[in-house]
Order: sequence, then structure tokens, then C-alpha cells
Amino acid sequence: MANYDVIVIGGGPGGYVCAIRCAQLGLKTACVEGRESLGGTCLNVGCIPSKALLHASHMLHESMHNFTKMGLGGTAPDVDWKQMLAYKDDVIGQNTKGIEFLFKKNKIDWLKGWGSIPEAGKVAVGDEIHGTSNIVIATGSEPSSLPGVEIDEKTVVTSTGALELGKIPKKMAVIGAGVIGLELGSVYARLGTEVTVIEFLNEITPGMDGDVQKTLQRILKKQGLSFILGAAVQNTKVVKTGAKVVYRLRKDDSEHVLNTDTVLLATGRRPYSAGLGLEKLGIEMSAQGQIKTGGELQTGIPGIYAIGDVIDGPMLAHKAEDEGMAVAEIIAGKRGHVNYDVIPGVIYTHPEVATVGKTEEQLKAEGRAHKAGKFSFMGNGRAKAAFAGEGFVKLLADRDTDRILGCHIIGPSAGDLIHEVCVAMEFGASAEDLALTCHAHPTFSEAVRESALACGDGPIHS
Ligand code: NAI
Repeated sequence: MANYDVIVIGGGPGGYVCAIRCAQLGLKTACVEGRESLGGTCLNVGCIPSKALLHASHMLHESMHNFTKMGLGGTAPDVDWKQMLAYKDDVIGQNTKGIEFLFKKNKIDWLKGWGSIPEAGKVAVGDEIHGTSNIVIATGSEPSSLPGVEIDEKTVVTSTGALELGKIPKKMAVIGAGVIGLELGSVYARLGTEVTVIEFLNEITPGMDGDVQKTLQRILKKQGLSFILGAAVQNTKVVKTGAKVVYRLRKDDSEHVLNTDTVLLATGRRPYSAGLGLEKLGIEMSAQGQIKTGGELQTGIPGIYAIGDVIDGPMLAHKAEDEGMAVAEIIAGKRGHVNYDVIPGVIYTHPEVATVGKTEEQLKAEGRAHKAGKFSFMGNGRAKAAFAGEGFVKLLADRDTDRILGCHIIGPSAGDLIHEVCVAMEFGASAEDLALTCHAHPTFSEAVRESALACGDGPIHS
């Protein structure tokens, strides 16, 4: 006899959302989590704490660079690093406790400990074995390593160590110009650290729209970040004064050394499924260590599903959440669905970057006839009042049908603006549909409408 209808292994955004939806659908649900608090990487050492530090450091940046322009005099505030970390920890606590409350409210059992699957229909946590009709693996990911780079989470850190450094370093080398490198690099640059980003490719944020890449790099440079592109990091060495980073420039294979205080390794994450016993169960894995799943997020073993960072697709909390809800619906005998063509991505630098759908580069490579409507925030009154005129909205639509194919925004509140385009894409809307929709004035959103107008007869304010 099964004790549970569903046991979800992993209490991150994929796992906890899945557990809540399962319970809402009337399934007797448990969630296994070995951390002291629920919420996984995202709430404990990822999205949420980094947003707290980004918010605090942005306030400092505003006070140093824009306050006097607005007639707000006085000296810029001092940085109390300990208090900033305490504020960040408080934000983590509020969020993780919130999930605990939701578990209680929905009568979900939190099985504390690290889970494994001795056989289909059973989950072991410590010495206890629980029976269940369905298992959802939502064990997430961990920072990937780089040969020659030894992590000690003090001098050479991953994103986890970067959220609790003992002091603000004078110099920081960031390996990798991806999302983590640029977000945490921004935090420290605003706090006065000399940040150098070393990136293997010749551009930052690989895979993003080319215009966005160039604009973001230019803006971040102005904010004090330095970039060494086309450089492969060979190794790092901890020395008395900090660390040395050895890298080779790919154009001429020359070797260089960067002396720094702290190194942040941000070269991606890898799926985490150690200790679950998947090999013994015969669950198929990809060469990258992802659990292989079919259309309904099911592994090769009936009754065992997998979602989030541990399977294929972008490693994003919201993608995991959507899969968590979909798999709950599937288990409950309903129709669960994730539209992988409409998953937004956001980088929380200042300004923010947000993107959904195809890039222009992808459309060109596919040979798809398209039009691009671009509108600069310089033409947006609200943005000018908020010192946020840098950046643009670029909307891509099919040349013949006008159907929206993608959108790429760099500018104020880009991470919020993108969602009207996501909704439009879900409804198969055309650029004209957005252009004909009344947008309140004065809002940043008007820039989205103007980009849609730019796909037709032209924007008004440029
Ligand atoms: P990433 O994949 O975004 O970027 C890693 C970068 O490191 C790439 O540009 C790559 O070319 C570079 N790189 C790799 N090897 C290198 C070497 N030897 N030397 C120099 N550069 C090298 O990975 P990141 O930033 O670590 O993030 C991990 C995951 O977490 C990503 O999937 C990301 O989407 C997710 N994440 C999402 C956030 C968000 O949605 N705002 C925030 C933080 C993480």
C-alpha cells in the first residue's frame, strides 16, 4: 500500500511548486529536502539573495551617481557590509519560511533529509522508506567546475561563496560573462570592487541578441566592469595576497596572468542527481548528465518523472516551476503542458535585460523572412525622468503574417515589460495587435508598443 500519491524529491522552485499543485489537485503529497530550509538554490543561494544584493548596491549606485542631479544633496551612504549581508539573509528567511507556511497550509509533508529511490514506488529518506504511486525528481543543479580551478568558497568562489564574502574585495576576477558573472560582477563593481570579467567567447551573454550583447557590454563598461574576451582560463592559484588567474588569449594563444583578491567561477551549472540511485534503476541519462524524459516529463520508468535543471532545457527557476505544475496536472490525470517557445530569460543587471522567443541571428540562420521593430528608451518620457534612457526594445515579427516571433529588451524594468510580449505570443498575436493596444502614459511599457508600431508604419516618438 502506498503511503503517498506523490513524493517530490527536491524543494526548489520546481519541486515545491509541483508539491503545492499536487496537493491542490487532491493528491497526498510529500516533498523530500535535505537543506535546513525549503526553496532550493533559488531561494537560499541563488535568485533571491542575489536580488537583495543587487537592490542594495543599486541604491548605493543611485545615491552616488544620480541623487545630486535630482537636487538630493549630502554625502553618499557608507557601506556596512555586515548589515547588507544580514538584510540579504533576512530576505532569504522571509521567503523560505513562506514556503514552509504554504506546505503546512496545503498539508504537504516535508520529509527532512536526502532522498534516494531504492526501487520504483519507494523513496528512502535516512532509515525510513516511504511508499508512493508517483515520484518526481526535482534535484536541480550545482555549479560546474573548471579544470585547474580549485574552489575553496573563500578566495576562489562560486555564486554561493560570492553571496557571503568576509569583506568587499578590492579586486575580483569573474570567470564567465554569463548571467551569474554579470549579475554578481555588477554587485561588487557598484560596491567599489575592480571587477574584471574573463570570457571564453568573443562576446558576453552567449546566445543572446547581438544588439543586446553589445549595448549591455558598453553600459557595464561605463559602470566600471572590465572585459577580457576570447580568453580561456587555464587555472587559478591561491597566493598570500589573493589569487592569480592564468588565461590564454584564443587569437594568438598568448598566456597572461591576472592578479586579484577574489575569483568568482561562473562558467555554468550542471545537473545534480548524485545519490538518487538512478543508475541502478536504469534511468537513462544524457552525456551532459541530464535525466532523459519524454513528452510528459516521464523517465523510462513508469511513475518516475523529472523536472527542472536536472533535465534538458534552460536552467531557469520559472521553467522548473512550469514543469512542476505541468507534471502535477499529468499525475492527476489532467493535461499538463509547457510551451518551451515562450520562456522568458532575464538578467538583473542595471539596466535589466529580458528576452523571449527567437533572436534575429536565429531567424537569419533559419532563413525566416522577418521584420525588426526597434525603439530606443531615449524616446520614452518616463525613462528619461528616471535616468533610464539607455537601451531599447526590439520586437521581431514574421514579415508576411506579422506574427510576433521574439522580443529583446535592454532597459528599465525589462524583466517586467517582457511579459506582455509573452502573453501576446501565447495568443499567437501579431505586432499590430500590440501596436493597437492602448498603453498607459507615461510608462516604460509604451516603448514596447512603439517597437510594435516600428514593425508597421513606424513609431511615433523617434
Ligand atoms: P552561463 O552559461 O550563463 O555562462 C557561463 C559563461 O562562462 C559562458 O559565457 C561561457 O562561454 C563562459 N566560459 C566557460 N568556460 C570558460 C573558461 N574556461 N574561461 C572563460 N569563460 C568560460 O552560466 P552561469 O552564469 O554560471 O549561470 C549558470 C546557470 O544559472 C545558467 O543556466 C543561468 O541561466 C542560470 N541563472 C539564471 C539567472 C537568471 O535567470 N537571472 C541568474 C543566475 C543563474
